Amino acid sequence: MSDWYRDFANSGVGSTLVKQLGLPRPAVLRRYEPGAPLLPGPAVVGTAGEGRLHKTLTRVLEDVGVPVLSAVDADGERLGAVLLDATGVTGPTDLAAARDVLAPAVKRLGPSGRVLVLAAPPSDADSPAQAAARQALEGLVRSVAKELRDGGTANLLFVPADAEASVPGPVRFFLSGRSAYVDGQVVTLTAADVPGGEDEERPLAGQVAVVTGAARGIGASIARVMARDGAHVVAVDVPAAGQSLAEVANEIGGTAFQLDITAADAAQRLIGHLRERHGGVDVVVHNAGITRDKLLVNMDAARWDSVLAVNLQAQLDLTQALLDAEGLLGSGARVVGVSSQSGIAGNRGQTNYAASKAGVIGMVRAWAPTFAERGATINAVAPGFIVTEMTAKMPFGTREIGSRINSLQQGGLPVDVAETIAWLSQPTAAGVNGQVVRVCGQSFLGA
Ligand SMILES: NC(=O)c1ccc[n+]([C@@H]2O[C@H](COP(=O)([O-])OP(=O)(O)OC[C@H]3O[C@@H](n4cnc5c(N)ncnc54)[C@H](O)[C@@H]3O)[C@@H](O)[C@H]2O)c1
Repeated sequence: MSDWYRDFANSGVGSTLVKQLGLPRPAVLRRYEPGAPLLPGPAVVGTAGEGRLHKTLTRVLEDVGVPVLSAVDADGERLGAVLLDATGVTGPTDLAAARDVLAPAVKRLGPSGRVLVLAAPPSDADSPAQAAARQALEGLVRSVAKELRDGGTANLLFVPADAEASVPGPVRFFLSGRSAYVDGQVVTLTAADVPGGEDEERPLAGQVAVVTGAARGIGASIARVMARDGAHVVAVDVPAAGQSLAEVANEIGGTAFQLDITAADAAQRLIGHLRERHGGVDVVVHNAGITRDKLLVNMDAARWDSVLAVNLQAQLDLTQALLDAEGLLGSGARVVGVSSQSGIAGNRGQTNYAASKAGVIGMVRAWAPTFAERGATINAVAPGFIVTEMTAKMPFGTREIGSRINSLQQGGLPVDVAETIAWLSQPTAAGVNGQVVRVCGQSFLGA
């Protein structure tokens, strides 16, 4: 699905016109392509205070062949990224060093450039001044994200003292085209056993991944990306969507499994299938979801119940059944729940939907410690405005406004949600647990 305004604003005549009229010019985002370099240009790695991650960051970049600079070369080629190790900030005066690193580098960033700041979590600080300075970085990063143009993004990783081994996978994600529509986000890492030697091109090789609601839309995209990354995908959807489900499964060499996830025996049927055919499961993506919009005053029980049943209760029941099924959920398993920006910001006419999607966030946070004990993780992604067949049917004005009110000035694509879920499913994302990652281009709603 094309974005007519973005295409127009980037055309010869259109570009001149939007400039003269002072209109926004949404960029063509850099998206992941297997085999492409991690970044299109060199990266600057700087520090604020006595940081502890500078070496790790340099090694991550050098391992994938990105040239690392310690300072900006004003005449050199455009930068692919600037990374700031701010783990050493002890108080507000150290923040000036962050400005000193970021300001000249941001000026030299190329298209779809990346700003990535790493800091210690405010909750682990020794003093209020240290906590304040660490928290201040969130305001800094979220504001830089709003100032960047040309598809640039800025994100923040909080890294506790014992979580250094968790850093490389998330750093690669935030620099790569996989995170094209993830902007202004804060992710807190935890200490974890991170396996080495991952195949960058096929990080899910040999894994079995269940994707619910895989017959179309975002779910079909998740299934395709997971299969591209090496997983065998068990694509789940209702019997009524059987034909398109079979088409998706055939296209990716996966398995189609017709199942209404709200049926009383849904978990047992799926578990039986996974045991019999695959011996277990490594990744479960709870993507199936429905909307039944009405203002609360007009919301009948059927609308309320069906949305809560599909979007929340089924995620809870299936996850609990997988945890209970002995030996089924592999150690290092990954569960990802699909939430929504509506679950964070609320949305008129969507009390049922927003409640269900906020519930998904509560679910992953509550289960994270249980998953950590098993060497597994559970996280949520919260998509913002994603361009699908559903949004294509919206009235023109609503669609245009909905898709532009974010820092990237455009709607995301299903593949942007899929790439984020596939990243959370990777072995090297072991240190990301109980997190909610918005895929919303830094939407102005609920920010
Ligand atoms: N499209 C967006 O902009 C957007 C934004 C935020 C969140 N989301 C969430 O992303 C997910 C996918 O959204 P989408 O736009 O691709 O929706 P979609 O309606 O195109 O696809 C949802 C799929 O889920 C399946 N499904 C519904 N009920 C089911 C059930 N009981 N059992 C099994 N499968 C069932 C449907 O048959 C369908 O194939 C949903 O959870 C949605 O809430 C979407």
